[in-house]
Amino acid sequence: MPINLIHSWLHRVEEGWDPIPADYAELYAEKAWHIYNSEALVDRLSELAHGLENKRVLDLGGGPGQYSVLFARRGARVTWHDVSRQYEKIASARFLAAGVQIERSLGYLEDAQKFGPASFDIVFSRVSWMYCRNDQHFARLLTTLVRPGGLAYIECDTPTNAKPEGLRWWQHRLNEYAGWKIGHPLPPQGRIGRLIAQYPLRFLEFDYSSPLQDKVIFIKA
Ligand SMILES: C[S@@+](CC[C@H](N)C(=O)[O-])C[C@H]1O[C@@H](n2cnc3c(N)ncnc32)[C@H](O)[C@@H]1O
Repeated sequence: MPINLIHSWLHRVEEGWDPIPADYAELYAEKAWHIYNSEALVDRLSELAHGLENKRVLDLGGGPGQYSVLFARRGARVTWHDVSRQYEKIASARFLAAGVQIERSLGYLEDAQKFGPASFDIVFSRVSWMYCRNDQHFARLLTTLVRPGGLAYIECDTPTNAKPEGLRWWQHRLNEYAGWKIGHPLPPQGRIGRLIAQYPLRFLEFDYSSPLQDKVIFIKA
């Protein structure tokens, strides 16, 4: 059901559409820069990637840009991609303050297709997966963007985390049982890993230690 696709035709980022209100972006950015910025996670990805120096990193749904900066500080060539101008403004100021050069790209997650197959050593998607139009198609896009031997990190909240009620409960059930997305239901726990596991991989790690989150790391064959 292409409702989200129709929505994206009617709400064009290049014409100024932004789903994120300025005050919400500021609040989230404060938390992101102080809490959601784990050096330990970047250490782990760096270890798996044999270092970050000169690695091409895509921060997909990069928001306030805290991870873009962590990657760039370790010598990676980072592309920040997000739908929101509000976040672009916030991220740009942070990039300048941090003294790092980061390419910025505005668009829907699916617009990342423009970068072309195998264009990144690392694709990083932290709490942005749920905004894709279709879980299956997004798994394909994400694995396509990673070069052979490159890696990806995906972290996404589960429906248990969101405790959807009313209309949102139906959105989640439709996505869970029919794969139809209306709005942004969270993928059921395990789905991201199962979709990614269909592709030729050299390494695959799931972390389901919390029922509230899926974390998946893979290295493409
Ligand atoms: C919860 S924030 C996560 C931000 C960042 N990755 C982090 O780790 O803090 C979700 C991000 O997804 C972006 N986003 C939402 N819908 C999107 C879409 N359809 N295409 C691209 N980005 C989207 C938002 O603007 C926001 O920056």
